[in-house]
Amino acid sequence: MPSFFTPSRIETPQSKAMENSKTKQEGAAVDAELTTAIMARRFHASVIGPETWEGYIFSDLEIRIRESTDLYGAVLWPSAMVLCHFLETNKDKYNLTDKNVIELGAGTGLVTIVSSLLGAKVTATDLPDVLGNLQYNVTRNTKGRCKYIPLVTELTWGQEVEQRFPHATHCFDYILAADVVYAHPYLDELMDTFDHLCQKNTQILWAMRFRLDPENSFVNRFQQHFHLEELYDLPSLSIKLYHAWRKDEKSKGQGQAAA
Ligand SMILES: C[S@@+](CC[C@H](N)C(=O)[O-])C[C@H]1O[C@@H](n2cnc3c(N)ncnc32)[C@H](O)[C@@H]1O
Repeated sequence: MPSFFTPSRIETPQSKAMENSKTKQEGAAVDAELTTAIMARRFHASVIGPETWEGYIFSDLEIRIRESTDLYGAVLWPSAMVLCHFLETNKDKYNLTDKNVIELGAGTGLVTIVSSLLGAKVTATDLPDVLGNLQYNVTRNTKGRCKYIPLVTELTWGQEVEQRFPHATHCFDYILAADVVYAHPYLDELMDTFDHLCQKNTQILWAMRFRLDPENSFVNRFQQHFHLEELYDLPSLSIKLYHAWRKDEKSKGQGQAAA
């Protein structure tokens, strides 16, 4: 037998099982490493002052987020940290400088703040009740630090979206969304809103926290309209981060993040 002969690898059930378990171990290691890095972004106030806030470090800056009580949008959810970590650590491929960005369900504003610090022109949107605290956090953390002053405005999914964001005047490079799919009755309206705002060259970066069906099946429905690329899979947080773009636009795809 010539010495350069390499027998082709024979796949057996045992070798397949070993490979699967190796892939699982690698996945678990990536999950653990990323989750640790993401959670390390948070710090707590060392001195208790008159106001309670949570601290985060992004773009080498301290960001202070004030939460309020009882509303979903008044609390910062881990999905927002996942998306912000991705944006900061992938800023060459997903370059937000001078880009038009809209955030859906912005809540306490971390994603909008980090995107603004990364140079984007951001429109932060949410339900009317959430806007006061959102505006407070956005102003407090972006004033004098950003090229563009972020805009905070109402966007109730499915309501007057065309009137408020007409295609003729509003073209977004990115739609950002963190933890917007859960047991609320507006999943169809949310889908319509993605559909309206996502134009030919728009890219969606969406952090999805998996909870229960039927909310989880939103991902399957979403795939009927949009191409979906998984960027992060973090089982320990039950979160996946997706990159998406319109299905009817054949020119967009993996690796085509706007420079
Ligand atoms: C789970 S919170 C996530 C908040 C923030 N993105 C984060 O990750 O910390 C969901 C957000 O969606 C907003 N939301 C819920 N229903 C909405 C609707 N019908 N229209 C617009 N925003 C809505 C809530 O007010 C809230 O800010």
